[in-house]
Amino acid sequence: MNRITYQDLLENKEVLTYINKADAQLEAMGYTEHGLRHVTWVAKRTGQILEALGYDTRIKELAEIAGLLHDIGNLVNREHHAQIGAIIAGNLLGKMGMDVEDVTDVMMAIGNHHEEDGFPSSAMSAALILADKADVHRTRVRKMGNVWENLKVDIHDRVNFAATSSRILLNSQKRIVTYEIEIDTSIAPVIEFFQIFMSRVMVAHRAAKALDAVFHLNINHTRMI
Ligand SMILES: [Fe+2]
Ligand SMILES: [Fe+2]
Repeated sequence: MNRITYQDLLENKEVLTYINKADAQLEAMGYTEHGLRHVTWVAKRTGQILEALGYDTRIKELAEIAGLLHDIGNLVNREHHAQIGAIIAGNLLGKMGMDVEDVTDVMMAIGNHHEEDGFPSSAMSAALILADKADVHRTRVRKMGNVWENLKVDIHDRVNFAATSSRILLNSQKRIVTYEIEIDTSIAPVIEFFQIFMSRVMVAHRAAKALDAVFHLNINHTRMI
């Protein structure tokens, strides 16, 4: 069996095509950026969460692979993109010769990352959920037409654009995972963040619990959760 690494996938043309096509589909639908920036951001943080909480290096690497591939299902359809992506990733990784145990662990994580129908059923899936839901940032707003006019009508764009900083702080000793988000309230009030991110906050809370950790949310240096 081949030991497939995160770097192997990052350099794989097929993977990059999946990622770019998935993002093109979401761009056409008016969604925020879900391209290489998003998936590599998520991959890195998924690995960091597991490392901070004491998981071994191979789980960390598989989790980074799951992070890189987690949104490729969007290339087929936004609906059920997590499950579709898990199947595509399973085929791809199997074809590359990855061990079936590893393939299935990655599939499970990808298939459960979406807040509407995902469940943190393994450490890897829980870490992927925590990393994915933290990516709220103004760089995700696509620059199309008059940005300020778009912000007036689209709450997702407005909240993302208002997020000037978004970090995940990890306390290994106390096992605390904290989202540290700064929101420019002249662009979007904090209540709008909760209006669209409440389901994400809830699933992040459940994911932290699955890792035997505690979830905190700080907005503008004030502890919300
Ligand atoms: Fe997703
Ligand atoms: Fe995502």
